[in-house]
Amino acid sequence: MLKMSKIMVVFLWVCSSVMASVTYDHKAIIINGRRRILISGSIHYPRSTPQMWPDLIQKAKDGGLDVIDTYVFWNGHEPSPGHYNFEDRYDLVRFVKLVQQAGLYVHLRIGPYVCAEWNFGGFPVWLKYVPGIAFRTDNGPFKAAMQKFTEKIVGVMKGEKLYESQGGPIILSQIENEYGPVEWEIGAPGKSYSKWAAQMALDLDTGVPWVMCKQDDAPDPVIDTCNGFYCENFKPNQVYKPKMWTEAWTGWFTEFGGPAPYRPVEDMAYSVARFIQNGGSFINYYMYHGGTNFGRTAGGPFIATSYDYDAPIDEYGLLREPKWSHLRDLHKAIKLCEPALVSVDPTVSSLGSNQEAHVFKTRSGSCAAFLANYDASSSATVTFGNNQYDLPPWSVSILPDCKSAVFNTAKVGAPTSQPKMTPVSSFSWLSYNEETASAYTEDTTTMAGLVEQISVTRDSTDYLWYMTDIRIDPNEGFLKSGQWPLLTVFSAGHALHVFINGQLSGTTYGGAENYKLTFSKYVNLRAGINKLSILSVAVGLPNGGLHYETWNTGILGPVTLKGLNEDTRDMSGYKWSYKIGLKGEALNLHTASGSSSVEWVAGSLVAQKQPLTWYKTTFDSPEGNEPLALDMSSMGKGQIWINGQSIGRHWPAYTARGSCGKCNYGGIFNEKKCHSNCGEPSQRWYHIPRAWLKSSGNMLVIFEEWGGNPEGISLVKRSIS
Ligand code: GAL
Repeated sequence: MLKMSKIMVVFLWVCSSVMASVTYDHKAIIINGRRRILISGSIHYPRSTPQMWPDLIQKAKDGGLDVIDTYVFWNGHEPSPGHYNFEDRYDLVRFVKLVQQAGLYVHLRIGPYVCAEWNFGGFPVWLKYVPGIAFRTDNGPFKAAMQKFTEKIVGVMKGEKLYESQGGPIILSQIENEYGPVEWEIGAPGKSYSKWAAQMALDLDTGVPWVMCKQDDAPDPVIDTCNGFYCENFKPNQVYKPKMWTEAWTGWFTEFGGPAPYRPVEDMAYSVARFIQNGGSFINYYMYHGGTNFGRTAGGPFIATSYDYDAPIDEYGLLREPKWSHLRDLHKAIKLCEPALVSVDPTVSSLGSNQEAHVFKTRSGSCAAFLANYDASSSATVTFGNNQYDLPPWSVSILPDCKSAVFNTAKVGAPTSQPKMTPVSSFSWLSYNEETASAYTEDTTTMAGLVEQISVTRDSTDYLWYMTDIRIDPNEGFLKSGQWPLLTVFSAGHALHVFINGQLSGTTYGGAENYKLTFSKYVNLRAGINKLSILSVAVGLPNGGLHYETWNTGILGPVTLKGLNEDTRDMSGYKWSYKIGLKGEALNLHTASGSSSVEWVAGSLVAQKQPLTWYKTTFDSPEGNEPLALDMSSMGKGQIWINGQSIGRHWPAYTARGSCGKCNYGGIFNEKKCHSNCGEPSQRWYHIPRAWLKSSGNMLVIFEEWGGNPEGISLVKRSIS
């Protein structure tokens, strides 16, 4: 009975949308009456500049894509409640229209939770402080805020007539993101929230289907979809829904402290071919172009500034070969099969112990076949029809006419490209010392006890000073024995620099696996008052996890001093002074006017290997149009600005741990399988978009936390040979 009424609902929905232009059935998404095999790729608009968009979109089109997929980044669009930003890198309408002009479709993944290794998973930090809020569950304040933003985005898109039902390019939209696993954890409230989210989205009446990824109870007519390295065995929750793969991971993201993951193209192509041979009809590469986490947009914590992802188009917008070409050829082969693929289900037959044929044969006579060898290490010769076919290990051959193999996923024709970073100039630096803040001065706020960092900074900066005075009695035994007391600081993350009486005593930082940290060191204290100043540094807020809005950052204690006459002194409940951000941030040293408001030193006075230092230089734009980057290998950790725009966090001193052995394409892939860069900086080069430069007099400002040698920084051109 229930089943019957469900079918009725879908039937009615399909009927009512005959007039609209995007529908679906068991086989495929149907656009203007035509079933389509759709190849899509993720390009996140704020991870490149508007000047780069047309070229990226064109390269995606040339690579055989039909659809560009992007998340919508709430915290970029609504930096404070009710104040919207759709400018520059957040000009979503312009991005969607550029895709339309190129003749491609758009999949708009509104979320508004997006994960995406993006700061706070896309949520604005102010959302955490809405009274009574709990994220991503059946919670009134959260649902109201989510609905308001989703309505805003749909309203903007409708206003510009961007849905396919209005003649625009948007053929699909996503609500939520991989909520299924969360729902499974939290139970009933999760279930009612996901139902609510689906209905809220449907009520917005976009005229195009909604999807929910990793949501196997997605209510009709919402389509549940698969994300992963492989999705061939995925089945949507109803037979009348198409089999869609919304995130086919082309590689993986880099973390500070981690190596650079990559995914061999043979395996990528194999996974796509297997998905298609099993009846899949929509595949989206996540990422097709990863780009850059400019500014403080990286999530994590500890997500690197580069979001290259080993994608077919690299961080700089250049083609990554042979990945780009091999996938283009795969798409051509799949498209040759399209008439058969969208018409019938495959018949599967065995060709050997580990080999199969998937044949799509229509009544009208068209026929396409996929011959697969699942053996990870041995090739096979199979007989199909009247012919023999050689299948390399872990590969699929595509036969658009059931006779000639036009493509094999493991036979890569395109040559491998080697990116080259050619230095074009070095710089002449000025420096300015950031001051160590100290307790109870005018520009600090004093509170009893230790306070969570983000509740104080609201994430307006990475930096928060925690300061207090340590009184040492002249009778303390250690003053005579010279056995210094042990200072221990527990922090919820992510890095800290400890100063005593203005001198750096030490630095500690967490990592992506465990970002909590403990500073523990014998410290040199004198009789009387000692100034303890700790700079606590955030490195991106979490972008996922159960109720991550409740996770903490900063020093929550205890903070103790051991080895005194009284043995251990717990200072956690002391009066602590707080100062938000750096002096250089308050002075806007990264801008032209801010930087001219202070005295910089030059020549031999320029600070070297000194923590908490600002550096500044000017330079002319190099000739040509090759993408540019800064080689930061001589530096420690901090942030970079060009002409007032933030390039992101640098942290070349965090080297990549892990093993980078040989990596064979055959066999099941995961993000830990293929790594490069071990023992090297996790990220050495930092992309400088050409669009942010003028021909001469560009101002480059760097804030260095750890201490580095600025003379080692160079500007490089990236090229592909
Ligand atoms: C997925 C998620 C994406 C991204 C990806 C890893 O689970 O939906 O937003 O975080 O993992 O890059």
